[in-house]
Amino acid sequence: MSYIKFKKTHSCSSLGKKDLGSEVCLMGWVNTRRDHGGLIFVDLRDREGITQVVLNPENDEIAHAKAHTIRDEFVLAVKGKVVERPKGMENPKLATGEIEVIVNVVEILNPSRALPFPLYDNQSVSENLKLKYRFLDLRCGDLQRNLILRHKATSAARGYLNGEGFLDIETPFLTKSTPEGARDYLVPSRVNPGRFYALPQSPQIFKQLLMVAGFERYYQIVKCFRDEDLRADRQPEFTQIDMELSFVDREDIFRIVEGLVKEIFKAALGLDVPLPFPRLPYAEVMDRFGSDKPDMRYGLELKDITDLALKSDFKVFRSVAEDGGVVKGINAAGCAGFSRKDLDTLTEDIKPFGAKGMAWIKIDADGLQSPIIKFFEKEIMDGIVKRLEGKPGDVLLFVADKPKVAADSLNFIRGRLAEKLNLIDASKYSFLWVTDFPLFEYNEEDRRFYAMHHPFTSPLPEDALLFDSDPGKMRANAYDLVLNGQEIGGGSIRIFQKEMQEKMFRALNMGEEEARAKFGFLLDAFEYGAPPHGGIALGLDRLAMILTGAKSIRDVIAFPKTQKAACLLSDAPSEVSAEQLKELRLEIAKFKE
Ligand code: AMO
Ligand code: AMP
Repeated sequence: MSYIKFKKTHSCSSLGKKDLGSEVCLMGWVNTRRDHGGLIFVDLRDREGITQVVLNPENDEIAHAKAHTIRDEFVLAVKGKVVERPKGMENPKLATGEIEVIVNVVEILNPSRALPFPLYDNQSVSENLKLKYRFLDLRCGDLQRNLILRHKATSAARGYLNGEGFLDIETPFLTKSTPEGARDYLVPSRVNPGRFYALPQSPQIFKQLLMVAGFERYYQIVKCFRDEDLRADRQPEFTQIDMELSFVDREDIFRIVEGLVKEIFKAALGLDVPLPFPRLPYAEVMDRFGSDKPDMRYGLELKDITDLALKSDFKVFRSVAEDGGVVKGINAAGCAGFSRKDLDTLTEDIKPFGAKGMAWIKIDADGLQSPIIKFFEKEIMDGIVKRLEGKPGDVLLFVADKPKVAADSLNFIRGRLAEKLNLIDASKYSFLWVTDFPLFEYNEEDRRFYAMHHPFTSPLPEDALLFDSDPGKMRANAYDLVLNGQEIGGGSIRIFQKEMQEKMFRALNMGEEEARAKFGFLLDAFEYGAPPHGGIALGLDRLAMILTGAKSIRDVIAFPKTQKAACLLSDAPSEVSAEQLKELRLEIAKFKE
């Protein structure tokens, strides 16, 4: 017994002239249906493609099957014979456009209700409605293509890593907090009332323990959970291609990851990515681009004029420079035609980064035009124009502020200019390793250091002695992989000695007791022969976004969450029964909004 009477013999993309005369059975969905009185033409669709099938209601069996009731998205099984399409009726846009199937048996496997939105050309349909009926939106078109491409990428990744001697090992989801800088998702334990698991923000600690256990090369394509504010490139649960290796330095990791990325691009897009990827230290990318993930598809580099500002009479610039700030500028080449409104809009747009203003100098054939030139001696002004390589037709834009504000503002302006000047080549893939991140970030508010990557990252060996004297100056043995201005991966060579790990926790203001409570099991492991090790995790969703050209991370995830971390399809998160709460010994407190 079976619910289906026939066996599907072919996919809807595979039939062609080679199959003329064959008896075949296709199964799929009604993409479109045209009733020409005598004959019914159905475009039958499955994952692979579309085949035109022809039903003649005068055939008793077809009439009996109520073929005239067939509507869009009905699921059909058809049996019939492959024939050449009549002359002039071929469809060159379809892989199967030279043939059709003359059906002699049809079975309606399941009808479909009228659709809540059209499956094609539905850009104007609200995203919420599409998310509610995600299974329909996934049925064809871009989303389906994206997931197929994503599969090709993960399958290539597995093949490559297996070949390089990595073992795919699972790590727990019900675990303890792993510090990656976000909030944890907590899961109450019924059998241990009042206690909670944390869903992992990454497998970081467990993969390090696997190194202590001697597995040498581990990988996992794994879900990570982070309760953070969502953006177009973030999801509360997302996937990493996570790796850890023993007895390596970062050169080994770069080589492996470059090979992996090359393999993924080849499999997914048929592209040969040139290796090795360029590298730049953090200090240099921040100086030249104002970002630790610069888009390297275009130039528009920032130039520092703090030294010249110090010599000038322009109070706005000089006072910032004297107070330890920076004055930096960017040459908007060829943009001297910017209107006052264009410049005012840019100035408004950088306010959210804390910028107090944006100064500008236009260069035209007759000389310089700017409200600020009167404050500069000619020699200094010439020096500024020269440093920014200004020429007639350009406008130079400046921000004077604390280094972070100036960097964020000019990075934003750089991106805006690239769009305006059409400098972004969408067919280009520009990779960059950013290395030598600071080990710590200082937080002015609570006046303490935080780990910039995570607390298991080692300092560069040459900086290891600065723990006690000048931790703020320490550089980390950490690296990010950047692609077209997005951080697609991050990792580090780890601390593997107990003493150094303890120093790290001390620098992070974490007392011995707290360190033991949180990570005692890792500290213990370090006392039983931990090998030197390091690793990296690639953000698979972000990588898939770039591979597919998707605008949102949601478009490469089968069942994504909204900005409010909700799943509109299943209506999660939802309330739970009083019974469940009682079992968990939980009560919902009443909060005033
Ligand atoms: P990190 O926190 O840098 O490192 O994460 C690695 C990569 O994961 C991606 N990513 C995300 N993608 C989608 N949504 C999110 N919310 C999100 N958060 C991060 C990014 C990022 O580069 N354990 C370390 C890795 C290591 O040291 O080996 C870690 O998780 O592309
Ligand atoms: P003000 O003296 O405030 O009128 O500023 C003179 C010019 O300098 C205006 O074009 C301001 O937009 C610009 N300006 C003000 N503050 C800054 C700043 N922090 N960085 C760059 N330009 C600024």
